[in-house]
Amino acid sequence: MFVSESLDVNTKNHLQIGGVDAVELAEQYGTPLYVMDEDLIRKNCRIYKDAVDKYYDGNGLILYASKAFSCMHIYRVVMQEGLGIDVVSGGELYTAIKAKFPMDKVYFHGNNKTNDEIELAIKNGVGRIVVDNVFELGRVDAISAKHNKVTKILFRIKPGIDAHTHDFIQTGQIDSKFGVALETGEAMDIVMQASKLKNVEVVGAHCHIGSQIFELEPFKLAAKLMTRFMADVKDKLGITMSELNLGGGFGIKYVNSDAPVPYDEYIKSVSEVVKNTAKERGIDMPKIIMEPGRSLVGSAGITLYTVGSVKNIPNVRTYVSVDGGMCDNPRYILYGAEYSALIANRANDKPDMAVTIAGKCCESGDLLAKDAMLADVKTGDILAVLATGAYNYSMSSNYNRIPRPPVVMVSDGKSKIVVKRETYDDIIRNDV
Ligand code: LLP
Repeated sequence: MFVSESLDVNTKNHLQIGGVDAVELAEQYGTPLYVMDEDLIRKNCRIYKDAVDKYYDGNGLILYASKAFSCMHIYRVVMQEGLGIDVVSGGELYTAIKAKFPMDKVYFHGNNKTNDEIELAIKNGVGRIVVDNVFELGRVDAISAKHNKVTKILFRIKPGIDAHTHDFIQTGQIDSKFGVALETGEAMDIVMQASKLKNVEVVGAHCHIGSQIFELEPFKLAAKLMTRFMADVKDKLGITMSELNLGGGFGIKYVNSDAPVPYDEYIKSVSEVVKNTAKERGIDMPKIIMEPGRSLVGSAGITLYTVGSVKNIPNVRTYVSVDGGMCDNPRYILYGAEYSALIANRANDKPDMAVTIAGKCCESGDLLAKDAMLADVKTGDILAVLATGAYNYSMSSNYNRIPRPPVVMVSDGKSKIVVKRETYDDIIRNDV
């Protein structure tokens, strides 16, 4: 019935997450409230890790793409599970440093890293920098030289794949701000240029073809093109690229019609393709790296709100307004993203009322769901929006000077705060 295995309903007819009563969590911590099931996150980490062991002889590394949800606690969780991380900014990197994440397992991404960010990464001995373009290549080399280091780099490559997803989150095709193109020769060129530099060592290639993808084919195609590229580099330049990073993008279930592929299937499919292509072209099997973000944390999260006004506009629609909105979940207003929702304090009641769930921001488009089916909803009900673990907290804002909600993790039947609720003092802390 639910879009996530973390959820069920207890004898009080209350929604539970990870076996913990969501209504009690709302009472204890207040709303709006992000709740995440740590046990499911750990389980997801293991599915990916075990699949690499099973289908690729353990010759790989799973990175958590931490843009999906970043805070010190999550870095500790994935560290304990033996994963590496992908960071895309000085802020994510700094959070990982403070969480004492092993820096050799940190991959630093981004299409326009600043010199300060590159310096922070190099000074702290970041494992790899995924270089996006030729301008950055020169800067990474120069900053490495300044610190007397040789930085291991991968290149972000656009394999030219059109993965079927929302336009805004398509990144593998040629018209993209990310990376260098394969088919124009730009990718080969940048590897050649890097080979002449003293303070960088080319270790691999990276691509990321999009997000919330439900098909295996685009990943298989990317794996084939990228492995061929590595073989071409070997043939033309005599350089061995030992790491192939195939990015993230594996879809999750937001609504019942979504049909995600089991995560280990992705690993199985690309492993086969990489093995076969490497054999065909006579190169050693590269270490494979995958970077799931959404699929590690998305289904593990819910957001709890308190219902305020219920405004029925006859023959038009009913607006149910909650105490959060686009400031804690901007995915509807940005992408028209769909979510499932229910009344947490009457979780098994029949959803027979079509409503539009609105936020509290001064913006007409500030909705969480249009035409959602809810059980007869009243002021004071606790509304749960499901599968909000990815790209919600991490994309939240203080629009309208609304403080960000806290994040509570549940594990083993217990709950704890991992990110505190912002206060009004937090809101003005940088004002002068
Ligand atoms: N690796 C790279 C280089 C990426 O750019 C991304 C996501 C990932 C890995 C992780 O992708 P995932 O497994 O989470 O799909 N804000 C959008 C999603 C943007 C994804 C950006 N890159 C959303 O809310 O749908």
